[in-house]
Amino acid sequence: MCGIVGYIGTEQAAPILLEGLTRLEYRGYDSAGMAVFDPQAGLQVVKASGRLQALRDMTDNGAKVVGTSGVGHTRWATHGIPNDINSHPQVSPSGRIAVVHNGIIENYTKLKEFLKEQGMPFTSDTDTEVIAHLLEYYYEGDLLEAVGKLLRRIEGAYALGIVCADAPDQLIAVRKDSPLILGYGNGFQMMASDVTAVIPYTREVCYLNDGEVAVLTRDSMKVYDSLLRPVEKTTAHVDWEISAAEKGGYEHFMFKEIMEQPKAIRDTISPRIRDGKVVLDDLTITKEQLENLDKLYIIACGSSYHVGVAAKYILERLVRIPVEVTLASEFRYSSPLVTDRTMALVISQSGETIDTLAAMREARRLGARLLSIVNVVGSTIARESDDVIYTWAGPEIAVATTKAYSTQLAVMYLIALHFAELLGRVTEEEYARLVAELQSLPAKAEEILKHTKEIQYYASIYFNHDSIFFIGRNIDYAVGLEGSLKLKEISYIHSEAYAAGELKHGTISLIEDGTLVVALASWNELFEKLMSNVKEVKARGADVIGVATEAHKAQLEELVDSALTIPDIDPMFLPSLEVIPLQLLAYYVALMRGCDIDKPRNLAKSVTVE
Ligand code: M6R
Repeated sequence: MCGIVGYIGTEQAAPILLEGLTRLEYRGYDSAGMAVFDPQAGLQVVKASGRLQALRDMTDNGAKVVGTSGVGHTRWATHGIPNDINSHPQVSPSGRIAVVHNGIIENYTKLKEFLKEQGMPFTSDTDTEVIAHLLEYYYEGDLLEAVGKLLRRIEGAYALGIVCADAPDQLIAVRKDSPLILGYGNGFQMMASDVTAVIPYTREVCYLNDGEVAVLTRDSMKVYDSLLRPVEKTTAHVDWEISAAEKGGYEHFMFKEIMEQPKAIRDTISPRIRDGKVVLDDLTITKEQLENLDKLYIIACGSSYHVGVAAKYILERLVRIPVEVTLASEFRYSSPLVTDRTMALVISQSGETIDTLAAMREARRLGARLLSIVNVVGSTIARESDDVIYTWAGPEIAVATTKAYSTQLAVMYLIALHFAELLGRVTEEEYARLVAELQSLPAKAEEILKHTKEIQYYASIYFNHDSIFFIGRNIDYAVGLEGSLKLKEISYIHSEAYAAGELKHGTISLIEDGTLVVALASWNELFEKLMSNVKEVKARGADVIGVATEAHKAQLEELVDSALTIPDIDPMFLPSLEVIPLQLLAYYVALMRGCDIDKPRNLAKSVTVE
């Protein structure tokens, strides 16, 4: 959600800013712009609504914009429609100061009134414009000092990139509750919303903490706290390859990431299983602390929440501790029953989702211990947790998550096995059997991925449906939630997931001739019950795609219109296999409907506003 890039160095800035913004496109946006300091003409601002290509066309890929320092932005509209005027950078009344912003300024209405009273005109509907104006209001020749005063007035979430025509040899970066990293180079410095934008230039990065301000010059980077006292920062080295964030010959990132899942699962579990035992070096919780827990609270949004729904079945079965799964956006407003005997399991691919961050902070305030499962190293959620277990999925670029979801599940299996063993809730034989089953997962996922053509064929039959239901029981239901989200977010087909037993309590009235139902029947114990539900919807005219394990192949084929099978595995690990055909189905349906698969409308990869 919104992307920020800043560069100050000796090269022409605009092409670098455009390249960085291209790498941040996946975060989601609807307009783009940049402000570059031109030594002859002063601050040059170019911006355009729509795709980045418009900005490229206006500037001849940046060549027309002269200057070696500047900031760029991709905007995901919150305040004001996505038009040229509301695009960032927003500039101060004199045109001297330009600001790019990711986040929301909550008290902007009051500030706007105040600034209008001072005679300052406004042109946009954005909350960001008040930042540029306030900076000008406070500016008396020292930009950093003006930023310090600004920080005392604004409330909300913000990552800011600031450039001032009076101080052309510096850029200022500010961060609170929205991500911003710094990149250290030789003779240049950068800032960006995430590391993907800087790694073509430098792998030495630094993560800004909340309230910190950085002053970037060509040769130095100085960081201050919100009271402008100097802060010592350490750098981190990013060691993944640039190619990991590129399409590598695939038409879409989403497809590439679906195909990468066996490797991502293997990378996540293999180093953590040694001599048949799950070893979670990253975890500091002791057996005694674990015994003291009376509840696990899972906090997450979207697909990460769906991992939580599946994890509840897994953890309660194996660890025998009550698990409550809650949407992060609801957590703070639900009087959560959290004590110092609660552990909050926080799940987030990006590690920056603002709702999840706010909920985990509230959980901590109420006394919970925080264990997070995060993909982006050094992200805020990871840094604010007591313990973090990283999913080693590599960078995930497509907005629709696939390999991050799968690796989050993989970490959940590891946690469940580890906790169950520590608490003595599983016999040695059962533990060994489950570890072996877990290790078989990547190869079984590879097996499913050999059948993409079959799923493509089914997609070609059903892609014109305008309403699709996913039904399942127990863990199949949890997977249905994810399958339905995948489909709706990239194909824009209305879709819902239901616990199959609930059909008769309302939803079945929506089933009519030709309605498509995806029946998830992989949990062998409940196969027959699910087949009864299939008969009920078929009797009312539904077309049914069925998914079950190999064990039930023949029966499934008899009952449904299109049958998909997955390899047999212990039910605990089913979600990882069952989700793959659903991801592929969503992918091919969206492809056939001509949708923008990697960047679905209105969505952002990293949701950094509430
Ligand atoms: O980065 P997070 O895992 O915290 O993101 C949470 C959701 O926004 C995310 O899972 C979203 O639902 C997916 N991109 C959907 O595919």
